[in-house]
Amino acid sequence: MERKEVSRREFLGAAAGGASLAALGGGAAKLQAQSANDTVVLGMIGVGGMGTGRLREFLKMPDVRIGAICDVDRNHLDRALAIVEKEKGYKPQAFGDFRRVLDMKEVDAVAVVTPDHWHAIPTVNAFEAGKDVFVEKPLSYSVAEGRAMADASLYYKRVSQMGNHIHNDYSNYRRVVEIVKSGRLGKITRVHAWKTSPTQNIKSRNPEKLPEGCDYDFWLGPAPKRPYDALRFHGSFRHFWDYSGGTFIDFWCHITDVAFWAMGFEAPKTISAVGGRFFQTDHTETADTMEAILEFPQTLYIYSFRPTPLPGFEHMGGIGCLFEGTEASLVTNYETHEIWANGKKVPDFPRPDPFIPDSPGHLREFVDAIKSRNLETTCNVRYGHRLTKFGLLANISYRTGSRLVWDDEREVVVGNKDANRYLRRQFRKPWNLKVQPRPKGNIASA
Ligand SMILES: NC(=O)c1ccc[n+]([C@@H]2O[C@H](COP(=O)([O-])OP(=O)(O)OC[C@H]3O[C@@H](n4cnc5c(N)ncnc54)[C@H](O)[C@@H]3O)[C@@H](O)[C@H]2O)c1
Repeated sequence: MERKEVSRREFLGAAAGGASLAALGGGAAKLQAQSANDTVVLGMIGVGGMGTGRLREFLKMPDVRIGAICDVDRNHLDRALAIVEKEKGYKPQAFGDFRRVLDMKEVDAVAVVTPDHWHAIPTVNAFEAGKDVFVEKPLSYSVAEGRAMADASLYYKRVSQMGNHIHNDYSNYRRVVEIVKSGRLGKITRVHAWKTSPTQNIKSRNPEKLPEGCDYDFWLGPAPKRPYDALRFHGSFRHFWDYSGGTFIDFWCHITDVAFWAMGFEAPKTISAVGGRFFQTDHTETADTMEAILEFPQTLYIYSFRPTPLPGFEHMGGIGCLFEGTEASLVTNYETHEIWANGKKVPDFPRPDPFIPDSPGHLREFVDAIKSRNLETTCNVRYGHRLTKFGLLANISYRTGSRLVWDDEREVVVGNKDANRYLRRQFRKPWNLKVQPRPKGNIASA
């Protein structure tokens, strides 16, 4: 049976009106005030692989109620509804159109876990509808979409968090950032991240024919209209330029995060990338091998998308980052790091006292921020845009075969019409993205 709870939104509305709580009398009013205030009503938009994972994480939180679930694939929607019913004994509202979730007054926030080409529109529309937003990484499909999301978050004063959870779900990046910032590694002139690349053709997990209950036209949304193609659909969409930028961009934010955080990177002067399809012969499109270089004053950030881990650091696994200092080097993956000097590991390297506060967890931080109205979550969409846009630009450099001179103030490539064409997409009708004025001040990180 459906459990009837008063949402934060309903509670705040009632409190503003004053009448209904007063009518409950002292004790009852206090009790209701507490329960209502503590429950965040969430709408899930997109419940495929990752959306189902995020749903399960949110379900563990006693102060979150799943008010609605939306997916354009009825099979995914039904699977998610069944999970909530089994775990919690209630059934959220079900929709195939995310705009109906945004119409729900009792929904406080939404989690947007759709493919990349479907991140910006639901996010900006949700901000406009007064909802807070958790949205997956990479933040956006294009630079212009990320800019619109960042600006809308400030314009509508909404809480946001991008789904690069390594930032907060492990303490490792905090310890790495502290060591790098302490200066004990000496002068760092190269930061070299890697992610292992696919060396086999991509396999589809989807049926050859469009499954019953899927609204493929809605799934395509702002992307060009095409007939159904199993490889372009759930899961493997990311290997096509219409929807994403390959495994290259898929992991970009997770590892670039530690480099930007530790080095305080804002914007590089130039972005260049070379690569190709050296392994894959299927009809996917994105690169399977790439070297990207962001040129900062005094430091190069290199992201190698390669078949194996960085030589010498195979034991760190498929994704990692090496900070090359004149005194010592630090290599990190998501969960652990090591310090090396003169070709040897230095386990007793002197570490600074920890100074970055622990996180309550990535999703927890988001839910707490909804309640406290903290717009400065650690991975808000402004930070998400700062990380994501340079991965998008690396893909543009690769696709246009040009070294991009970047004007971060105006967010344009200097003197390169061909590259600037890729900064925004033509939306297929009727889809569009509302753009709000860019805030004044430190707009590079805003
Ligand atoms: N943070 C992480 O570690 C992590 C891991 C995997 C994926 N992701 C990100 O999550 C996002 C989704 O990836 P996935 O692997 O779950 O993809 P997926 O294809 O498995 O799931 C996407 C779901 O969104 C639905 N969908 C598509 N358009 C929709 C729309 N307009 N409205 C409602 N539902 C819609 C699809 O039907 C599908 O169920 C991507 O942006 C991806 O980069 C993040």
